Amino acid sequence: MNELKKLLIQAKIDFSTAVSISSLENAKSYYLGKNGKLTQYIKNIKNISINERKRYGEIINSIKINIKKELNIHRDILKKKQLKVSLKTNKIDITLPGRGKNKGGLHPIMRTLERIEKIFYSIGFDITDGPEIETDFNNFTALNSPKNHPARSMHDTFYIKNRYVSNNKPLLRTHTSPMQIRYSKINKPPIKVITSGRVYRIDSDSTHSPMFHQIEGLWIDKNISFSDLKGVYLNFIRVFFESDNIQIRFRPSYFPFTEPSAEIDIVFQDGPLKGNWLEISGAGQVNPKVLCNMNLDPEKYIGFAFGSGLERLTMLRYGINDLRLFYKGNINFLKQFT
Ligand code: PHE
Repeated sequence: MNELKKLLIQAKIDFSTAVSISSLENAKSYYLGKNGKLTQYIKNIKNISINERKRYGEIINSIKINIKKELNIHRDILKKKQLKVSLKTNKIDITLPGRGKNKGGLHPIMRTLERIEKIFYSIGFDITDGPEIETDFNNFTALNSPKNHPARSMHDTFYIKNRYVSNNKPLLRTHTSPMQIRYSKINKPPIKVITSGRVYRIDSDSTHSPMFHQIEGLWIDKNISFSDLKGVYLNFIRVFFESDNIQIRFRPSYFPFTEPSAEIDIVFQDGPLKGNWLEISGAGQVNPKVLCNMNLDPEKYIGFAFGSGLERLTMLRYGINDLRLFYKGNINFLKQFT
């Protein structure tokens, strides 16, 4: 039994003189390991006479508990020491700039949007946006496309099942024009607003995507004419492309919510696209029926609206030929714009 007590004393000495956690762990296995000193005593139990065995077992157990206790005490002490040292030597300079390698940037479409909003804001337009899930009413009916109107088929879209609303189904908006209705219902003329966002149609090729972005302009007051539209749009295009060598033209067209309606085409008078007329926007004078749906008196108010695709404007500005590049998430492509 004395041997066991000596073993405990020796273990205490070894543990307390260990200079590092790893030397402490070595000392631990010297006593408690598979072939450790104490383990050998435990294995020896079978050679002890039955009478002595119980007492022998008790003593070994209490030695084992004590050795473990000592071990834990010194493990704690060493860990604390280690922490102190590392706090002293590994000082963290919190005033250093971050080490982030991959700086994000604005998506080219969002760059275009910010540019356009700035341009219109500078000439007094309010800036808003609206929900992508619209009602059938705002997207079509209030914009003078009643149910079964053939113009609806130009805007085939994604409908959302809703068994509670049977005659005003939610859908993914096909254009930003429903914001004309929303905005005019809460704001009184003069109305001068730019709205933008994602729109959805069943279309997919190198120049069409089922989701794309539009920017919509609306100006309603007592004396607004097509020449205001022309002035505003030409100014926008020239500032946007940073060139005065651009002309625009209005080509007769049809939209249910404008009358008369037009497509706006632009032509560059220099550069790589010189001489090609490019369709850039739908536009027109707000249809009197739409003014009524905005709760405005068509005898008193008149205005214009236009809707342009942000993808197209971005492609022209940067010389991009495939619209799908915008949505592939290819870092090499996107990096060029940051
Ligand atoms: N909403 C039309 C479209 O998406 C564009 C447009 C807007 C036309 C405003 C006229 C006036 O095609």
